[in-house]
Amino acid sequence: MHKDVAEILVSEEQIQERCKELGKELSDYYRERNSVPMLVGLLKGSVPFLVDLIKRMDIDVEIDFMDVSSYAGTNSVEVRILKDIESSVADKDVLVIEDIVDTGKTLEKVCEILRSKGAREVKIATLLDKPGGRKVDTIVPDYVGFSVPNKFVIGYGLDYNQKYRNLPYVGVIKEEAI
Ligand code: PRP
Repeated sequence: MHKDVAEILVSEEQIQERCKELGKELSDYYRERNSVPMLVGLLKGSVPFLVDLIKRMDIDVEIDFMDVSSYAGTNSVEVRILKDIESSVADKDVLVIEDIVDTGKTLEKVCEILRSKGAREVKIATLLDKPGGRKVDTIVPDYVGFSVPNKFVIGYGLDYNQKYRNLPYVGVIKEEAI
C-alpha cells in the first residue's frame, strides 16, 4: 500500500470484478437497443475506469474525451470546457464515463452540452458515487461501481495535486499527506 494511504476503500480485485459486471450489463443494454454507444470519458480521472470497462464490453463502441474544469466562485461553481468532444453525437446513445460524482455540477453541465448537440440518450456510468456531496438534484448516475462516504479519496484515476492517479485501488489519503 502507498505510504500516503490511510485505508483502502475499494480493492483492485473489487474494481476488476465490478468492471466485469458493469461491462456485461452495459453490453446487454446497448445490444438490446441495437446501438453502438459513444463512450465519453471526462479527463483525466476517468481514464483507468474507461480502459478497464471497455475491455469488458463485448459489443462495438466508440470513444471520445472531454476535459472540463470547475472553479468555485463566491456563490456558484463555474464549469468550463477545456476540451470538447471531436465526434458528432447527433442521434447517438452517449454514455458519460466518470471516476466520481460528487456535487454533480460537472455532469450537470456535460450532460446539458451533450443533449444540446442532439444526443439521442445520455447516460452516466461512474466508478464511484459520493451521494453525501451532492449539490444538484438533476444528476442520478445510471451505473455506479461503488458508493463511497464523504471522504477525500485517491487512486484509480483520482488525484490529490495530480498525484496517486496510478494506484490500482481507491483509498483515503492520510491527513499528513495533505
Ligand atoms: C473531478 C472528477 C469529476 C468531478 C466530480 O474532476 O474527476 O469529474 O471532479 O466533481 P463534481 O461532481 O463535484 O463536479 P477534476 O475537475 O478534479 O478533474 P480531473 O478528472 O482531471 O482530476
